[in-house]
Amino acid sequence: MSFEPQKINGKFKGKDIVSLDQFSPKDIDILFGLAKKMQKIAYNGKPSDVLKGKIVTLIFYEPSSRTFGSFGASVKQLGGQTIDILNPQVFSSVSKGETLEDTIRVFEAYCDAIVIRHPVAGTAKIAAEAAKFVPIINAGDGIGEHPTQTLLDLYTIQEKEGKLNNLTGVMAGDLLNGRTIHSLLRGLSFYKKNTVYLLSPKELKLSKDDYKKFSSLGVKLVEIENDKDIPKNADFWYWTRTQKERFKSIKDYERLKTPFVVTKDLVARKAGKKTIIMHPLPRIGEIDPVIDSDPRAVYLSSQVRNGMYVRMALLSLIINGK
Ligand code: NCD
Repeated sequence: MSFEPQKINGKFKGKDIVSLDQFSPKDIDILFGLAKKMQKIAYNGKPSDVLKGKIVTLIFYEPSSRTFGSFGASVKQLGGQTIDILNPQVFSSVSKGETLEDTIRVFEAYCDAIVIRHPVAGTAKIAAEAAKFVPIINAGDGIGEHPTQTLLDLYTIQEKEGKLNNLTGVMAGDLLNGRTIHSLLRGLSFYKKNTVYLLSPKELKLSKDDYKKFSSLGVKLVEIENDKDIPKNADFWYWTRTQKERFKSIKDYERLKTPFVVTKDLVARKAGKKTIIMHPLPRIGEIDPVIDSDPRAVYLSSQVRNGMYVRMALLSLIINGK
C-alpha cells in the first residue's frame, strides 16, 4: 500500500503535515486555541522555552521569503533554533546528485522537525515517507498544497468573520496552479454551506479533476470569468498571483499575468462593509497599493501575523504534543 500521512485525530505529536486532508474541524480548533495563546508569547518580549533545545531544519528548494521567514521567526519566538537551507540544488550535496530521500535521512539526524518546500507536487509526501524519526511539514509542493498557508487563512477568516461556515467567498487568479487555492478549498469544504466564486481566465481555471474533487467534498463552486459576476458583499476575497514558475511559455505568462486587479472601483462596486481582502503574497500587481490602507485589507497585516501564531502553535503541537 502506498504511504499516506496519518490523520491528526486530536493527536499532533510526531505527525507529518503534508495535506489539509489530515485535519478535521476539531483538530483545527485545537490548533487555533493554541495559536491564540501564541499571540501573547510573540509580543511579550520575553524568551520562551517552548522549543528550547529543539532544532528545526528549513529546506527550501523553491524561492520563499514569507513562508521561510515565518517558520524561522516561529521557531525562534519559541526559543528554538533553525538550520536554514535555501536552494539546496545549488548549495548542497543535492547539486552533486544526492536524492531527496538521502537528504532527508541525513538532516533528520540533526533536528526535531523538517520544513520542506519543493517545486514538484507530491514531494512532501515522499519526504514524509523517507523520514524515519522526525515529522515533515509541507511548506508548498509545486502546484499541490500549502497546508500551513491555509491554516493561517482559515484562522484569519474565523478571526474576522467569527465563523468558518455559511460563508461566501471569491477566489481569483491562477486557480489552476495555485497551491494556496487548492489547500484553502479543501479547508473550506470541512465546514457547511460555504460557496466560493472562482474568478479566473479560462486558461487558469481549476483543473477538471480538482473541480470535481472539491465539489464532491462539499464546497459549492461557481466559476466566473468576469469581475462583473462577483457577488456583492462576499465575506472574503482571496486574490492570488499568476504562478510564473509553472508556465512553459513566457508569452503565455505575460498574457495572463494580471487578469483581474483589485482596484478602488472594484471594491466600491462589489465589496461590502465587512468583506475582507486577502492574498497569500507575493502580489505582482493584482492588488492596487491604494487598497493597502483600507481596513478591510488584511494581506499585509493580520494575515501575515496570524501566519506566525499558527505556525508557532503547529510546531509546538507536533514537536511537544502540546
Ligand atoms: C504562496 C506560495 O508559495 O504558494 N506564497 C506563500 O507561501 N505565501 C503564493 C505564491 O507564491 O503565489
